[in-house]
Amino acid sequence: MPEKVIPIRPAPAFREAGASAPKAPRYAGGAFADTLGRSLRDLRISVTDRCNFRCVYCMPRDVFDEHYTFLPHSSLLSFEEIAKISRVFVGLGVEKIRLTGGEPLVRRDLERLIAMLSELGVDLTLTTNGSLLAKKARALKAAGLKRITVSLDSLDDATFKAMNDADFPVAKVLEGIEAAAAAGLAPIKINMVVKRGVNDTHVLDMARHFRGTGHIVRFIEFMDVGSTNGWRMDDVIPSAEIVRRISAEFPLVQADPDYRGEVAERWRYADGSGEIGVISSVTQAFCRDCNRLRLSTEGAMYTCLFGQSGHDLRTLLRSGASDDDLRDEIVAVWRARGDRYSEIRTAETARASKVEMSYIGG
Ligand code: GTP
Ligand code: 5AD
Ligand code: SF4
Ligand code: SF4
Repeated sequence: MPEKVIPIRPAPAFREAGASAPKAPRYAGGAFADTLGRSLRDLRISVTDRCNFRCVYCMPRDVFDEHYTFLPHSSLLSFEEIAKISRVFVGLGVEKIRLTGGEPLVRRDLERLIAMLSELGVDLTLTTNGSLLAKKARALKAAGLKRITVSLDSLDDATFKAMNDADFPVAKVLEGIEAAAAAGLAPIKINMVVKRGVNDTHVLDMARHFRGTGHIVRFIEFMDVGSTNGWRMDDVIPSAEIVRRISAEFPLVQADPDYRGEVAERWRYADGSGEIGVISSVTQAFCRDCNRLRLSTEGAMYTCLFGQSGHDLRTLLRSGASDDDLRDEIVAVWRARGDRYSEIRTAETARASKVEMSYIGG
């Protein structure tokens, strides 16, 4: 039997209760950038490290089993804390907030957080596995969620179940997508992680199914995120190959990005029946314009999806820090940032210990 891999939950060096954080330099206002000239636009907040799926590329069941200890409720940021930090981020220029996890919809009363965040007037969205969406779509929309992204790796039940490893059927996710559409959570994006030999032969089916619906399927290269998913370069299907395969049946034309630093490369069907996206973190890194910062479930900032450690914000928050103090800390962390993991990926970095995606959020 292979040795069991222990998932990394890096110590973001949370300080002892009562200890005060070293003061970051005062931020005088105005534009600020990281060491590579990138500004901060996109905040991704993980609201839980738990999930009701065990996708093989994200939370393999032999690691995230009944012995795995998830975070205790007391270390999670409260909705009030998340809203307070988010307001500071928006004051610093953040235009989009995405809630992630784990599975964000397993966090109780998430609608209450959404209602608080919707007051900030930003592009407010969420990435979900869709399992609870049929039940929750209307309430999410009513609370102020603007749009939604649903993960779905195959339309074939056996394949999908093998990938989610939770015996969850395709039909229920499709029901969730329909409910989201009916509730007006548009545009709906569908994320499909493509793994060679597992679901790559289902790419065309997926494209065909959602063509003409207004929903946008995004094909994602399997990434070496975390340390537990057994990633191998051989399992990655390059996006260029995906585009070639789809284009052979439904001709595609490349479209301009919606905004600078967009993760997905956009391709339109030449006959006007919609668009797809490809996310090529492995074969065509997009770090150059990366404007994303992640806030982990317990309030640590990660300046890269492939980070090894985070920057504690929770202690500051819980020690009664003012908005100005929080702002100084965030700006100092961002200014020191030089991440470009995907551009400098090697076989060695791929093997190195990295934080799990379920902990910092996709
Ligand atoms: P829009 O807001 O609709 O433009 O979508 P998005 O691309 O921000 O959303 P989504 O969360 O669906 O991102 C899609 C996937 O791309 C994620 O689930 C990750 O797998 C991957 N991804 C997102 N951001 C990054 C990033 O900064 N680096 C890398 N390597 N991958 C990312
Ligand atoms: N590689 C690529 N995408 C991944 N996701 C999770 N783990 C990986 C990985 N190893 C995707 C999920 C979901 C989003 C949160 O991230 O499919 O759409
Ligand atoms: Fe859960 Fe999403 Fe990870 Fe799958 S990819 S295990 S649905 S958090
Ligand atoms: Fe940004 Fe890191 Fe992803 Fe590069 S690898 S795009 S720096 S999150």
